[in-house]
Amino acid sequence: MTNLTPDQIPEKWGDIASAYGEAFESLTSQFADEVISQLSPKTGETVLDVAAGTGAFSLRAARLGADVLATDFAEGMVNHIQQRIDDDFIHNIKTSVMDGQALAVKDASYDISVSIVGLIFFPDIDKGFTELKRVLKPGGRCAVVCWGHPENFDMMRLLKQSIACAVPDFEMPTQTPVWARLVGEDALKEKFQQAGFEKVEITTIDGLLTLDSVEDFWSVFISSSPPMTALFSALGKENTERAGKEFVRLATDDFKKETVTLASKACVGIAYA
Ligand SMILES: C[S@@+](CC[C@H](N)C(=O)[O-])C[C@H]1O[C@@H](n2cnc3c(N)ncnc32)[C@H](O)[C@@H]1O
Repeated sequence: MTNLTPDQIPEKWGDIASAYGEAFESLTSQFADEVISQLSPKTGETVLDVAAGTGAFSLRAARLGADVLATDFAEGMVNHIQQRIDDDFIHNIKTSVMDGQALAVKDASYDISVSIVGLIFFPDIDKGFTELKRVLKPGGRCAVVCWGHPENFDMMRLLKQSIACAVPDFEMPTQTPVWARLVGEDALKEKFQQAGFEKVEITTIDGLLTLDSVEDFWSVFISSSPPMTALFSALGKENTERAGKEFVRLATDDFKKETVTLASKACVGIAYA
C-alpha cells in the first residue's frame, strides 16, 4: 500500500513499544477500565483485543478470568505483552501478530472484541469494524475507543506552543493526523452502524495524564509514537532540547502545581453483533 504514514507501519510502533507504554499506558488504562466496566468480561468468556499495544486492556480482562487473545500488527508490541505475561505467569492470555484489517481468526468465535485507540490508525477503518463484528458470536459485545475532538487536548496544545516558542522558524506538519479521521461521538456511532452492529451506545469520558515530573515525561514523550519520533527527528537534537525546556516551563506555568495533569477526551462506543 502506498502513502502510509509512520503510524501505519508496524516496525515504527514496534521500535517504540516501551516508550509508548511509559508515556501513555496510564492514560489508555483509563479507557480500558471504562470498557471493562461497561462490558464486564467474565471467567471463561473469550476476548479479542485488536491493536492491543502494550496490553493495558488484555491484562485487565485476563485478570478477570477471561480467555484473551491480544493482537497487534507490530511484533515489538506483541513481544512486550508476551514479556509481561511471562513475568506475571499469566496463563489465560495468548498473543499473536495480526493486522486488524485481516484477522487470522474464525468467524463467530469470540464473546467480546475490542479496539482501544487502535483501529483509528488503520488505512481501512471500515474493515477494522467489519473484522471486529465478523469474529463475534451472535449477540457478542464490542467496544471501540477513539479520541474526542482534539482542539483542546492539553498535550497537543503545549507541544505546539513549546515548539513555536523554542524554534519559531520550524514549520509544524500541517497534515491532519490519521487518527483524526475518526473522532467524536457521531462519527463513531455511524461507523458501528455501517458495519451492521446493533444497540450502539457512545459515551465521552475524560482522559487525564498525570505527570509527577514533566521532565521525565518529556524524555519518553519524544519517542512515544511514530509521529513523535518523526517530528523530533525533523526538529533535530538541539531544537528538541530547547522545545523540551519550553514544554516544561509552559506546563509548570499553566498548572502552577508540582503535579501537572494533561486533559483529553475519548469516546467509548459499545455495540452488539
Ligand atoms: C495508540 S496505540 C493503542 C494501544 C492500546 N490499544 C492501548 O490502549 O494502549 C495504537 C496501536 O495500534 C497498533 N496498530 C496500528 N495499526 C494497526 C493495524 N493495522 N493492525 C493492528 N494493529 C495496529 C499499533 O501497533 C499500536 O500498538
